Amino acid sequence: MKNTILITGGSGFIGSNFILQWIASEKMPVVNLDKLTYAGNPRNLDRISSDSRYCFVQGDICDRDLVHDILERHQPRAVVHFAAESHVDRSILGPEAFIKTNVNGTFNLLQHALEYWRELDDEAKSRFRFLHVSTDEVFGSLKPQEPPFSETTPYSPNNPYSASKAASDHLVRSYHHTYALPTLITNCSNNYGPYQFPEKLIPLTISNASKGKSLPVYGDGQQRRDWLFVEDHCAAIATVMGAGRPGETYNIGGWNEKSNMEIVEAICDLVDEMRLDREGSRRNLITFVKDRPGHDRRYSLGSDKIRERLGWEAQVRFADGLDRTVRWYRDNEDWWGPIRSGEYREYYEKQYGRALS
Ligand code: NAD
Ligand code: DAU
Repeated sequence: MKNTILITGGSGFIGSNFILQWIASEKMPVVNLDKLTYAGNPRNLDRISSDSRYCFVQGDICDRDLVHDILERHQPRAVVHFAAESHVDRSILGPEAFIKTNVNGTFNLLQHALEYWRELDDEAKSRFRFLHVSTDEVFGSLKPQEPPFSETTPYSPNNPYSASKAASDHLVRSYHHTYALPTLITNCSNNYGPYQFPEKLIPLTISNASKGKSLPVYGDGQQRRDWLFVEDHCAAIATVMGAGRPGETYNIGGWNEKSNMEIVEAICDLVDEMRLDREGSRRNLITFVKDRPGHDRRYSLGSDKIRERLGWEAQVRFADGLDRTVRWYRDNEDWWGPIRSGEYREYYEKQYGRALS
């Protein structure tokens, strides 16, 4: 076994941030298996694409032969599994891809990781880790006065995306319980930061606000999420990989609960400050639109376990993280501009019932 780690979905938002951070700090080789769906963008990794420690394989985590070959050829000491269909609204429009990738794909990875792991010597076997990156959405929705989710909150997924992630978590758990595969599960809250695909609330609002387009807010805008800067999430994953106990799950949250309206208004104000090319506040662009079916009202994620047992806690204050994020989108329009064409426009029209232009 080598020191290489195998990342799945490393060309997406969180995976690419993780690879950039990992190569900069750990200096160890990375293999990135990514299908490059609409959400995957090789440009995210331009900075390291010619680094000898980085190897990219374009392919599907559901492909049995490919996953088998990659494990045999690269002999990784860990698998960090990010690859997923990740957008709730798309899961409502078309759930099938979510079952294929999130459930069947995770099963395929687990099965081949198990076969690979069984052939390792004892020392390598005890060092190997399979880390599955999951979400707080598996816990369902909280009422206003309820305490935050903890690692023991019963699963109660409410949409096809969260149901598919819950199913994959259960599979991972079962591979530890039944076969002793050294698995770890992390359940994280809403991420934001550079390289997030502009279908999600924060980058959608920044890019629409920058272009003077309407800012869709679902329902009454009083749904609440717990927001975490993506670099904090990546650091937490590295911590869990290094020190987490096999078989355990760890919540990763920012202790930073906000309503959607608070987020959208804060973005409007930042864009107003940074781009002086418009008269009047961008808050005037806020438009209440039809609510998401089955919309979860509130997420709040207790992260005491990871702080107490592994010493991790979020470092980036929300105001700073949001400021950095809005600045990044202002300075990288050549990244998100081209994305907002073709397939994205079709999706936008289907989702919002109006054209983007
Ligand atoms: P993303 O949609 O930005 O990226 C997903 C990546 O997976 C893309 O590069 C895509 O090409 C790749 N992919 C999709 N299907 C694939 C397949 N069949 N085979 C190989 N590659 C495939 O997602 P993200 O926001 O970076 O999320 C990464 C992971 O983190 C997901 O598992 C998600 O459930 C989880 N998560 C996300 C958040 C969040 O706020 N974004 C929060 C908690 C957990
Ligand atoms: O909680 C973790 C989850 O966070 C991750 O598992 C998912 O992969 C990730 O997409 C995210 O899910 P959400 O559904 O919470 O994120 P999204 O950015 O799509 O929406 C955030 C909130 O904003 C939610 O209440 C819906 C609302 N919203 C979203 C969009 C895209 C709007 O009001 N208008 C919009 O146009």
